[in-house]
Amino acid sequence: MMNLYVISGVTGMTGNELARQIVKDGHTVLGFDNFFASSIQTVEDLLGKEAFCFYEYDLNCQEQMERLREEVLSRKDDFQQLIYINCAAVVHTEHFYHVNSTFETNVLGMKKFLDQAISLKADIYINCSTSEVYSMNSWNEDGGVAEEDFIVLANAEHSQRTSYATGKLMTEFFMKDAVLEKKIKGCSIRFANVYSKNERYPKHIIPHILIQLKEKGKVELLENSKVNCRTFLHNEDSCSAVLALCKSEEALDGSVYNVATDEEISIVNLVKLCGEKMGLDNPEIIFQGYRASDPERRLLSTKKLRDRTDWAPKIDLNQGIEMCVKEMGCGRHD
Ligand SMILES: NC(=O)c1ccc[n+]([C@@H]2O[C@H](COP(=O)([O-])OP(=O)(O)OC[C@H]3O[C@@H](n4cnc5c(N)ncnc54)[C@H](O)[C@@H]3O)[C@@H](O)[C@H]2O)c1
Repeated sequence: MMNLYVISGVTGMTGNELARQIVKDGHTVLGFDNFFASSIQTVEDLLGKEAFCFYEYDLNCQEQMERLREEVLSRKDDFQQLIYINCAAVVHTEHFYHVNSTFETNVLGMKKFLDQAISLKADIYINCSTSEVYSMNSWNEDGGVAEEDFIVLANAEHSQRTSYATGKLMTEFFMKDAVLEKKIKGCSIRFANVYSKNERYPKHIIPHILIQLKEKGKVELLENSKVNCRTFLHNEDSCSAVLALCKSEEALDGSVYNVATDEEISIVNLVKLCGEKMGLDNPEIIFQGYRASDPERRLLSTKKLRDRTDWAPKIDLNQGIEMCVKEMGCGRHD
């Protein structure tokens, strides 16, 4: 028998690819989004399929969430499992600094969506947290920072940016509490730097670099980028990790899972790689501006995820950048 997935933020980068993989496996998705940071275009290929229903709803609108609840209630008995995945969030660096705008959706919205899942006796709830919670200690030389490591947070004395991370951290406690109280099964996920070939949001580093190289042949970066290194995970891989966790009874213990790669690259070399794929040799970088409380490295251990699921990433950065460049039509051969 097939499962029913209810996905918030379904037209976002994670939501739309999750829906695609779920529908491909023969399951059904009820998804909604308020288009705060996305558009219906991302799920155009799914619209019209019986297994995919889209609603233009806002997670913070009580009446719309009640309508969603009624819809799920009327359909859930036709399915083996009812699975809630909360992808809706006020995310991206420009919003990280605005505690009022992130709190309502990321914390209260997550909690209300969890309460709905529990009230409908859903089997599983997946909470999307973030690797931003690692804040100033987001790497180590011992295979990367692990879920159980203590966290050293930048705080309001340093940067309002941390308000996004602390809100997400709070959601991990709601998730754990619900599982400990035996109300539902589930877990939280700390994603690190997910990207997608369809992404057009220029605040994310990969589209930012590609768009600037395409339009100007050079790229502007913050001073931080002279030293910063990051890992980047393709959204097809981040979504297959979410689904692998859903299938692992052992993983749904209310705890937290890092979802990332260990393929680390400096931002300077990332620009070179993007340039190479576009046929630009060693493109010019202009460094200006500085971001406080930005860790130089973010390297996550995924041992816990790999121990409890059969997940492994399939798309390395080389392939992933090639996919992005091809999609943008700015490659060597375009
Ligand atoms: N992409 C990353 O690198 C990354 C890293 C860490 C954590 N995350 C987390 O993963 C989850 C998914 O992120 P994403 O990359 O897909 O982001 P995204 O911005 O692409 O998707 C989020 C979606 O939520 C929608 N949304 C926002 N407010 C809403 C509301 N009130 N009601 C309904 N929909 C609403 C947006 O329109 C958007 O489509 C988020 O919780 C995010 O915090 C992502």
